[in-house]
Amino acid sequence: MRHELVFTEAAAPPRLATRSVDLPRPGTGEVLVRVQATSVNPIDAKRATGYGRRLLGLKGAARFPLVLGNDVAGVVESFGAGVNRFALGQRVYGLLGTGRAGGAHASHVVVPQDFLLPAPDHADPTALAALPYSFTTMWLALRSTGISPGNARGARVLINGANGGLGRLAMQVLLPWGSRITAICGKGQRRAGLELGAEVAVEHGPTCIPSLPADFDVVLNFANWDDDALLASRLGPRAMGQATTVHPLLTNFDRLGWLGGAWASRRDRSRIRAIVASRAPQARYAWTIFKPDREALEALAEGVRARRLSLLVGVAVPFDNAIAAFDHVSAGKPGRAVLLP
Ligand SMILES: NC(=O)c1ccc[n+]([C@@H]2O[C@H](COP(=O)([O-])OP(=O)(O)OC[C@H]3O[C@@H](n4cnc5c(N)ncnc54)[C@H](OP(=O)(O)O)[C@@H]3O)[C@@H](O)[C@H]2O)c1
Repeated sequence: MRHELVFTEAAAPPRLATRSVDLPRPGTGEVLVRVQATSVNPIDAKRATGYGRRLLGLKGAARFPLVLGNDVAGVVESFGAGVNRFALGQRVYGLLGTGRAGGAHASHVVVPQDFLLPAPDHADPTALAALPYSFTTMWLALRSTGISPGNARGARVLINGANGGLGRLAMQVLLPWGSRITAICGKGQRRAGLELGAEVAVEHGPTCIPSLPADFDVVLNFANWDDDALLASRLGPRAMGQATTVHPLLTNFDRLGWLGGAWASRRDRSRIRAIVASRAPQARYAWTIFKPDREALEALAEGVRARRLSLLVGVAVPFDNAIAAFDHVSAGKPGRAVLLP
């Protein structure tokens, strides 16, 4: 049987239950993984309350009862035809897309082999489960700005939300590439930002962003949509681009319906794009949307193998105490939240 964690209805605080269903069968190119650890990301805590119901509903990913989760670390239990990269009993980690089939908060999940990686011996499942979704989103954001190992040396990068999961991973990638980071941190987090390797670290506040120089090559907004315009005003004339993961796309559609949501999203995006273009005509501006990406997973595999990538785990609990993991994330407590089915 598969044991899964289900949200019975959209509610805050979340309404949680466990249920048992038939074990899923892996199809062609798919692997059945016995899950040892899976994480709770900020998106899970929001989706539990109904966030994203319209747009995610298009993919069948908003119907309650809902199984959430995108990250998986575990052991190969069986696989379908055409699977040639993994063996029975092998330790793996990887990603599920957000879709109709439900999420990774379960004892067993079926994962396409392209979204799985072999787990290195040194890494335990709890640590691995914290990484794939956050790393992939961060990688997509970096890629959309145009920064790469070929042009990152000496580039000045401004990160809003530098102490969060995405911010830390971005620093772990950009520092070895030779970029110079300015970190916008939460209250009391400035020293931590410097310890992570930022050249400059400031605490968020009303005067913080306007007081920064306007010469950044890349801006990453992992913290607050309301900061996006001010952040764009800090781009330099030869900037590569700005990416934000905290855009209002899902909220606009939830609040305003199909037409209103589309109109508001176009307006919101155009407003910031215009600021970006006024600062640097060639610069890119992107709203990052998570989706599994093979290039990102390969970069993750390399970073994990080389022990360059990790996130602090703040709480790791069994399913019967899952609410503690969701509370941890909703309260914005430090460190990732991991479930141990
Ligand atoms: N678009 C997508 O597909 C996608 C995918 C993944 C993540 N995301 C979103 O990207 C964001 C970052 O993800 P994460 O996993 O890094 O989250 P996280 O670990 O919770 O970190 C968020 C960081 O942003 C800071 N922050 C939050 N609200 C802020 C505000 N109003 N002003 C200034 N700083 C603020 C927090 O500072 P404190 O520590 O002081 O609270 C924290 O350092 C989340 O909102 C997440 O939902 C979007």
